[in-house]
Amino acid sequence: MATSKLSQFGLQHVARGIGRLTPEVIESGSGSHVTMVGGKRYLDFTMGIGVANLGHCHPKVTKAIQSQVGQLLHGQVNIAFQKPYLELVEQLIPIMPHKSLDTFFFWNSGSEAVEAAVKLARHATKKQNIIVMQGSYHGRTMGTMAMTRSKTVYGQGFGPLMPGVFSVPFPYCAQCSVAQASGGKYSSSNCCMDPIRQLEVLLKQETAPSDTAAIVIEPVLGEGGYVPAAPGYLERVREICDKNGILLVADEVQSGFGRTGKMFAIEHWGVRPDILVMAKGIANGMPLSGIVARKDLMDTQMPGSMGGTYGGNAVACAAGVAVAKAFKEERILENVNARGQELSDMLSKLRSDPKTADIIHDVRGLGLMQAIEFKSGAAGSIGSKVQAKCKELGMLILTTSIYDTLRFIPALNITKEDMAKGCQILKEAIEEVAAGQKPQETATRGQALE
Ligand SMILES: Cc1ncc(COP(=O)(O)O)c(C=O)c1O
Repeated sequence: MATSKLSQFGLQHVARGIGRLTPEVIESGSGSHVTMVGGKRYLDFTMGIGVANLGHCHPKVTKAIQSQVGQLLHGQVNIAFQKPYLELVEQLIPIMPHKSLDTFFFWNSGSEAVEAAVKLARHATKKQNIIVMQGSYHGRTMGTMAMTRSKTVYGQGFGPLMPGVFSVPFPYCAQCSVAQASGGKYSSSNCCMDPIRQLEVLLKQETAPSDTAAIVIEPVLGEGGYVPAAPGYLERVREICDKNGILLVADEVQSGFGRTGKMFAIEHWGVRPDILVMAKGIANGMPLSGIVARKDLMDTQMPGSMGGTYGGNAVACAAGVAVAKAFKEERILENVNARGQELSDMLSKLRSDPKTADIIHDVRGLGLMQAIEFKSGAAGSIGSKVQAKCKELGMLILTTSIYDTLRFIPALNITKEDMAKGCQILKEAIEEVAAGQKPQETATRGQALE
């Protein structure tokens, strides 16, 4: 089948609800690049939405998978322990963001792991309600749809959703009305802490601490716009949790495994989560997710209440072990911080450059989890125009959030040369879109588009 025929076949027979960045068909991936059927090659700044973090088909991960396939493909966790599962636990214990996090449960997807965290929180506290952040993304299952507050499309028309979920604003200073009205007094480095006040109000008006099992939070809001929590915010949330017997659940499905320059994003704030949720980068593309908590919390669950046919699959765990080893052997975090600095320098230059400053509302992020938010105008999303231009120039990037935001998720081991190339493409695309943008199309601050 020719490329276009294959695409047509996909468009005809694959669920429309999926939606995709391009109708092309990926043939292969290697390192920071993907090649499409037909031969078109792209520099990939999406990495399968932050999954193939060590690059497509990392040789050590591929080798570990191949070797495990011939040893044991499927053991099933309710039958017996599996060696790769235990080896993965052994690899992960030393890199957890707090030494209390020592007992693991593996699942397949991020959504399932978030649901496992909710089950654990409800069971351990004997309380029901869950607090999430506005702008949060926790998945597309029936439970996690109810916890997702980044775009209505994820839950629209699928209700009734799981009850007992409440939301409060995340400290998203670039969109906070208090910060915007403060004339520069408050900003992302000096948050007004209104979200803390609103959390305290929520616990008095809507969900009493005695009914609240957990606060679930992405330390860096992912689908909601790549927004790192403002300094001091997570520390205050931890205090509120401690005071009220509420568990703090860090959803690090997207921000974990080195993405922000530390193994887990929450380490930037030194805050201890009670439950940590992980997925995506854990196995570089094999379907694997998990939760970790302290033993006394995890051991409240009855044997048999957890498990599942494919969860913690032996091959996926073997890939996870190879990922953990590669992190150390290849000094991945050092590269994340060096390349992240280059990306952030380039974004800051664009923000102050008179050629592009007028269309940029905010640049932000940590490590290689960075974003640029545009001042969107009447003509529609600037981000989508930049995204299309980048694709024309040979690079895949993603938009995110209801605000006009482009996010950058390159491989954590991207080379200096590929980062320079990506930055050059991005600069060219943004300059071209800025030059074609009429003044009335640019709002004075970031506006929600969808
Ligand atoms: C923070 C966060 N939590 C949960 C999920 C859901 O993970 P999955 O798509 O593997 O179910 C995602 C996916 O993007 C995510 O970013």
